[in-house]
Amino acid sequence: MIGATLTRLKGRHQSSSAFFQDELLLQSPNTISVVFMLRSEENLLPLRDLISLNGKKTLITGAAAGIGMAMAYRFAEAGSALDLVDINEASLSKVKEDLAGKGVRVKSHVVDISKKKEIDVLWMTLKREEPDILINNAGIYPFKDFLKVDEEFLEKVFDINFNSVFWMCQHMVRARREEGGIIINIGTIEAILPFKESLMHYTTSKAGVIALTRDIAKEYGRKFRANVLVPGGILTKGTKDAAKGLLKMDVGLIGDGIRFNARLPIGRFGKPDEVALMALVLASGLSSYVNGAVIPVDGGFLSA
Ligand SMILES: NC(=O)c1ccc[n+]([C@@H]2O[C@H](COP(=O)([O-])OP(=O)(O)OC[C@H]3O[C@@H](n4cnc5c(N)ncnc54)[C@H](O)[C@@H]3O)[C@@H](O)[C@H]2O)c1
Repeated sequence: MIGATLTRLKGRHQSSSAFFQDELLLQSPNTISVVFMLRSEENLLPLRDLISLNGKKTLITGAAAGIGMAMAYRFAEAGSALDLVDINEASLSKVKEDLAGKGVRVKSHVVDISKKKEIDVLWMTLKREEPDILINNAGIYPFKDFLKVDEEFLEKVFDINFNSVFWMCQHMVRARREEGGIIINIGTIEAILPFKESLMHYTTSKAGVIALTRDIAKEYGRKFRANVLVPGGILTKGTKDAAKGLLKMDVGLIGDGIRFNARLPIGRFGKPDEVALMALVLASGLSSYVNGAVIPVDGGFLSA
């Protein structure tokens, strides 16, 4: 800094933006100008406040198992009240009871998200208590040869994986267009880099989720932050069941597993909690300037 001339911009710089008011112009002897922004300490929240979801309410779909359940536990730990949605009543009530027993404010909703009518009823139930944070996590990934996919099958996959996300987001934006909110959608690496065959119905439905999320971020960015997580191979009930099914069908699962692992930089499958932690970042003040992002949680798979 020796020999440098500091010139306060405040007052001179006629920018209408308050952003510039606390900046300094540093002019070096080489006349290279660098703009510094003064850290105004009193405006920086401590990390524990940034990560806290105290006073917030989060709705998570597919919360009775896997990644959704892991999110429910982490969001509760961060202080959020929860609205948990799933079609599996027995598993959902177990999760609810466990969390309620730990003092968490939790409501459960048995909803088949593939049916728009059920989604509409859910949001009527939530009226005036809509969530601050919406996580569209529920999804299915059944394997089927592209040439064997019929209309009924494709409709089911799209109803659950894409249409439900569309309607849930529409309800959220309608209900909270004044206060705004946070939307986290769950895509998949397969929508960016198709790896396992017989998943075209799945990859295309999740590609729609990515496009929708980015559209919402663009059109409603003043009020909503919308981001999409794209998990890689995460060990959940869903993936274990799918693997069992594939083993029975003998469609090259072992060979694909070896190839998948061979290009996986981190060298192991992910845990549901590792996706939940990233969702927590996206829901919290730790990501206040992150909007419209497509974020892999894949151990580096997409980079290898
Ligand atoms: N596990 C992975 O490796 C992986 C990878 C990429 C993306 N994903 C995505 O992450 C999300 C969660 O996956 P997971 O592995 O935890 O799944 P999972 O099968 O373990 O859990 C999914 C939950 O969604 C619920 N659900 C399914 N259909 C529903 C419906 N019609 N209405 C309401 N709830 C319904 C199920 O009952 C279940 O509780 C999915 O969207 C999936 O596509 C998972």
